Amino acid sequence: MHIPKHVVLKEVGPRDGLQNEKATILTADKVALIDLLSASGLSYIEVSSFVHPKWIPQLADAAEVLATIKRQQDITYAALIPNKRGLERALTVGIDEASVFMSASESHNKNNINKSIHETYPVLREVVEEAKREGLRVRGYISTVIGCPYEGAIAPQKVREVADALFTMGVDEISLGDTIGVGVPTQVEALLAHLLPHYAADTLAMHFHDTRGTAMANVVKSMEMGITTFDSAIGGLGGCPYAKGASGNVATEDLLYLFDEMNIHTGVQMDRVLAAASFIEQKLTKPLNSKQMEIKRHQEVEQ
Ligand code: HMG
Ligand code: MG
Repeated sequence: MHIPKHVVLKEVGPRDGLQNEKATILTADKVALIDLLSASGLSYIEVSSFVHPKWIPQLADAAEVLATIKRQQDITYAALIPNKRGLERALTVGIDEASVFMSASESHNKNNINKSIHETYPVLREVVEEAKREGLRVRGYISTVIGCPYEGAIAPQKVREVADALFTMGVDEISLGDTIGVGVPTQVEALLAHLLPHYAADTLAMHFHDTRGTAMANVVKSMEMGITTFDSAIGGLGGCPYAKGASGNVATEDLLYLFDEMNIHTGVQMDRVLAAASFIEQKLTKPLNSKQMEIKRHQEVEQ
């Protein structure tokens, strides 16, 4: 089995997690969550999203959150950016990395960002070019890389077409999203076998939602194939409101357990991550959906 010495965990909970929660989380609580995450050893936090506030009201306070968090020099603070207007809003408060996003499936793209795939390219190109002029790194998300809630199975060739377009625009990294968590390791293998001859493994990240409990198996398969960057969300929060059936991301603390026990270095401290998870669990007033948090709750009852 191919085991890397190090992997990078990219925390998307404050964005992917909180965009999908019905409960309103106070801006001060979002800031406190991000500050706790900043103290855990994570090197990358996706803080919020500058999409249209009518589409994602939960993250309408993105600018205020970014303006208030205590930033640490060695951490990349990123935000989701759909278009030029979103980038303008983000630049007023400052971000380290802009994450543009689109889908490999036509119908999810239309439902999520109100454009066809071809109409999306010039919108994202404008963002990438402007972000680069501002000296930012740019990440490109591709959603529905294995399955789409409207179209079913997605062929790896479709993902390749979008990946080619994004890399040609100048994105530094592509995060491949199993948005609705339908993928299994054989499909991940087919997808990566199609992409890896064309792109360096360290320019790809995997973003698994765990709707059907297959995310962990998919992470291990991706790692065996040379991928070393994984997105995850504290407490297994997450989901895309414009992808029916999408549920949480693989939980940061569960991935961390896996990497720690396999002696794969992440630089992230479990106790600090659990402290952040407990904090947001209390604010959401519901038990978080991760194995590590389940164990923690049991231990607390026994004490
Ligand atoms: P639209 O309505 O087509 O936008 O929305 P438009 O360009 O036609 O503009 C309409 C009006 O909105 C204009 O105002 C714009 O200025 C304004 P008017 O001139 O009429 O007064 N506007 C904005 N205002 C503030 N901020 C902006 C902005 N953009 C336009 N950024 C748009 C298009 C993309 C904006 C909309 O569809 C949208 O915000 N969609 C976001 C949906 C979303 O956030 N989905 C979840 C994130 S993706 C995800 O979760 C998947 C991921 O995790 C990976 C995975 O799991 O696969 C990343
Ligand atoms: Mg997602």
